[in-house]
Amino acid sequence: MDIFGNMDQVVWITGGSQGIGRALVQEYRRKGWTVIATSRQKSGPQENDEDLAHFWIQADLSQPEARQEALQRVLAIGWPDLVIFNAGVGHWAPVSATKAADADYIFQVNYWAAVDLTYQLQQLQAGRPLHIVAVTSIAAHFGQRKLATYSATKAALRLWALSLNEEWQGSANRIQVVSPGVVTTDIMRNTLDRDGNRLGDRAKSHHGWSPEKVAQKLYAVPQSAKFEHIFASFSVRLALILHDLCPRLFYTLTRRRS
Ligand SMILES: NC(=O)c1ccc[n+]([C@@H]2O[C@H](COP(=O)([O-])OP(=O)(O)OC[C@H]3O[C@@H](n4cnc5c(N)ncnc54)[C@H](OP(=O)(O)O)[C@@H]3O)[C@@H](O)[C@H]2O)c1
Repeated sequence: MDIFGNMDQVVWITGGSQGIGRALVQEYRRKGWTVIATSRQKSGPQENDEDLAHFWIQADLSQPEARQEALQRVLAIGWPDLVIFNAGVGHWAPVSATKAADADYIFQVNYWAAVDLTYQLQQLQAGRPLHIVAVTSIAAHFGQRKLATYSATKAALRLWALSLNEEWQGSANRIQVVSPGVVTTDIMRNTLDRDGNRLGDRAKSHHGWSPEKVAQKLYAVPQSAKFEHIFASFSVRLALILHDLCPRLFYTLTRRRS
């Protein structure tokens, strides 16, 4: 926003309170965008920090009514030139111990929020273009123990986006997908266990790319013509190719490592 209150390009980032989302808020602010962020918690102790979003909307995106309300508040600020569906929550439990209510919650946050809000945005766009970046995960590409629900939400989101991308060919609307590998955030600590509780200190250590590196790379995504962007090392990307070409070998090797 300039000194006269005129809006620059507007980005709406979900899950902006921490981790990748917070780094995205900072990156887009640095690049001069007007940033609207949503999350359940307020953005932490440095609320007046100039790195934080211009507009903060508290909303639990697992709740359809809260999604509607958040969208109305976003639109009262302005039509977003870019929407980044980044909010997400992990789930760590074997299938045999996964309660339907917990799986439903994970799907609401990771899948339905993006699907529902995209539908609402399309109803209201009135000729304005819609550009969406959905954050999925490399977990959408292969099976892992205790991650069935989380991976299924990300795979569903990815395939939904692939399908929408086909529907939107030749229109002014665009959707792209970003699939990170391991990023150093509190995602594992925030992950829910078989009883629906945060793993907290029970979480395994989780180290990979920095959220800032992910945010910088994601900033370049809308300028690219490519649909899916995998943010992971060369060896991880090679492993994904092996999974597609020879799943048996892929799973034999990953079982040996676990
Ligand atoms: N870190 C990784 O290794 C990794 C790898 C692949 C993909 N990803 C994906 O990247 C995205 C960001 O992950 P992260 O690592 O930054 O995780 P994170 O640090 O745990 O942050 C998750 C964000 O989502 C928000 N969120 C969670 N539940 C919500 C709800 N019910 N309503 C609204 N907002 C909610 C959180 O805000 P509040 O708690 O304040 O609501 C927070 O801002 C997720 O979609 C994740 O699946 C992460």
